[in-house]
Amino acid sequence: MSIRFFESRKLFILSGETISYVFYIDANGRPVHLHFGGKVLGEEGLVPQEIRKGHSSFSPWGPGENPKDSPDALMLEFSGFNSGDFRIGSATVLTENGSQITDALYVSHRIYPGKEASAGLPCAYAGKTGNVETLEVTLRDTACNVEFILRYSVFEDCDTIVRSVRTVNRSASPVVLRRLMSAQLDLPHTAFDFIQLSGSWARERHAERTPLHPGIQSIRSVRGASGHQNSPAIALGAHDATEYSGDVCGALLAYSGNFLIEAECEQYGTARLVLGINPETFSWTLAPGEAFETPEACLTFSGEGIGRMSRNFHDFMRNHLIRDGWARKKRPLLVNSWEAAYFDFDAEKLLGIAKSAAELGIEMLVLDDGWFGARNDDTTSLGDWFVNTAKIGDLGELVRKINALGLKFGLWFEPEMISEKSVLYGEHPDWVLHEPGRRRSIGRQQMVLDMSRPEVVQYLFDTIAGVLRSASIEYIKWDMNRNLTEVYSAALPPDRQGEVAHRYVLGVYRLHEMLLEAFPGLLIEGCSGGGGRFDAGMLGYVPQIWCSDDTDAMERIRIQLGTSLFYPVSAMGAHVSVCPNHITGRTTPFVTRGNIALSGTFGYELDLTKLSKEERELVRVQVAEYHRYHDLIACGDLYRLSSAFSLNAFDAWMYVSRNRREALITVVSRFSEPNCGVRFVRPRGLDPETAYEVDGMRVSGATLMALGIQVKLPAGDGASRLYYLRALS
Ligand code: DGJ
Repeated sequence: MSIRFFESRKLFILSGETISYVFYIDANGRPVHLHFGGKVLGEEGLVPQEIRKGHSSFSPWGPGENPKDSPDALMLEFSGFNSGDFRIGSATVLTENGSQITDALYVSHRIYPGKEASAGLPCAYAGKTGNVETLEVTLRDTACNVEFILRYSVFEDCDTIVRSVRTVNRSASPVVLRRLMSAQLDLPHTAFDFIQLSGSWARERHAERTPLHPGIQSIRSVRGASGHQNSPAIALGAHDATEYSGDVCGALLAYSGNFLIEAECEQYGTARLVLGINPETFSWTLAPGEAFETPEACLTFSGEGIGRMSRNFHDFMRNHLIRDGWARKKRPLLVNSWEAAYFDFDAEKLLGIAKSAAELGIEMLVLDDGWFGARNDDTTSLGDWFVNTAKIGDLGELVRKINALGLKFGLWFEPEMISEKSVLYGEHPDWVLHEPGRRRSIGRQQMVLDMSRPEVVQYLFDTIAGVLRSASIEYIKWDMNRNLTEVYSAALPPDRQGEVAHRYVLGVYRLHEMLLEAFPGLLIEGCSGGGGRFDAGMLGYVPQIWCSDDTDAMERIRIQLGTSLFYPVSAMGAHVSVCPNHITGRTTPFVTRGNIALSGTFGYELDLTKLSKEERELVRVQVAEYHRYHDLIACGDLYRLSSAFSLNAFDAWMYVSRNRREALITVVSRFSEPNCGVRFVRPRGLDPETAYEVDGMRVSGATLMALGIQVKLPAGDGASRLYYLRALS
């Protein structure tokens, strides 16, 4: 049983395999947080928070309450607004009389096995592994009659707790939600580092670590997508936490739109973390009886450093978020036409690439941008999802020829966008997000469709489904190449414009849902100009996301290792591309490009017909390695071993199979070291008692982990090697 309730003390203990989350309802009805960390065994010792002395009159309390119970001083699971807790809070509700005072207290709770889904949003599911239980605690603001149901689902096998809030308007008048965060977590001290993934286009998700400081530290998006700049995921790690030791709390949001994650170090020395939809661009009217669900926030705790936090989240997403077993399923090894041909292709060129692909053991050709409408550059045709037959002939026939070569076929779409030069724009100019009378921003010559409108979603479904039915298309790459501006919908009244940004995201999710329902087995790769929408929300629909437009292997190390802080390697789109690299101009050995793309979905992004004989041989080796190591990489435990940015001269990471019978280490040296000494890489996660074969030697797991393996790399910048370890005993 992972959720226990102790009636006499109104105490809840939620436990995973190694963690516990504890809170209680106090005498005044407030849900008071006690603990999120290592596992507790029972209620003994879980004493209520007792503030040492009464706080000043500047931390107020309710009538008849003990001054020590000021909501401004307690660690709380949920805080309203303008009612005594001055920290960043969970909810602000505007009522008909203009009040925004929000203050909700305990009414009831229920505990049930499994987890219910929230309609229209990406949702974690119980799945086949481990026990899952859910607790719902209902709080009510009796003045405005609005209910807040705090949900906690415990995923025991991966030490993860998924939280969300459902709000119901029980009053007879409409209310407006001005802020409704998915989770609030109070921690008893502030000695944490804020670990985040930040960057930009072509350099997404670089890990950054800064100490918390008095005041508020936050990451957010107002771009309409989670964005290249910050991923909706953070860790609060003890200052001394490393990859392998120390306490770390991880928190991420399964949401793909405007988000906010804030941490506040407040006056009494505690830290409050809140995460949810960004209130800057959100308001939502609830008519009497209506309900609103927040996206899910996922929390984990590791007492074994950042690495264990990552592995908890990887297991959580692979077992309980990514659908239809795709997380562990082998994806077709593909070649994508983008960096091979950009807009410059015809059927003959595509068939040439397909023929080379088939000879090399590649399993799918993905036709990227430029196959539809009149599109030969990025100025036209988005929205016109019909085949440019003048360019590629009949799609059905092309796909049949590609299939006849033994290859599957995939196709690129950018559903949410519209070009001014398009048939669709001529027919439906009002389907564009914009405010009439105001200038409209352009990005990559395109505008954004109003996905908050059901008829837009239906049009996109009908046209995309039409193309999918016209040929054997087993994969789509769903791109999104600009962010939202002038977010205003012609279909909503003035007082509901604050809903557009969130309704847009719901429209995106709905279209994914419709396509997946109509085409079971369809594999969708997410993409947004590379990794501009890489988040757990999208992973609720698609098992993989193109990590970055930057395919430079050296840059990818930082991007992919950063991404791996929270997201599983099986979700990272990674391809071998041509050198000099199209973005950095850098040249990296072909072997290394393969070794780094192997730590992802693996594929090629180059014109296979132009490879040298030697490169073709290397492709054959890489294809064999992909098949040989797939399960280990996609399903194994990831350990980040070494970073070139630390004292070591190389980057190294490894995968260990669940039964610890196999492991694979990747070592990459960015710069050739002249006259260098001996270098070791120390594996982790092996069975100390087992003897492993590595580099022709027989060595115990204990010795390997104590001493390490001597790293022997070829000379030259960007040299790399794989070390395969196999259990012998
Ligand atoms: C951006 C994507 O990230 C690329 O891979 C490619 O699909 C282009 N868009 C096509 O326009």
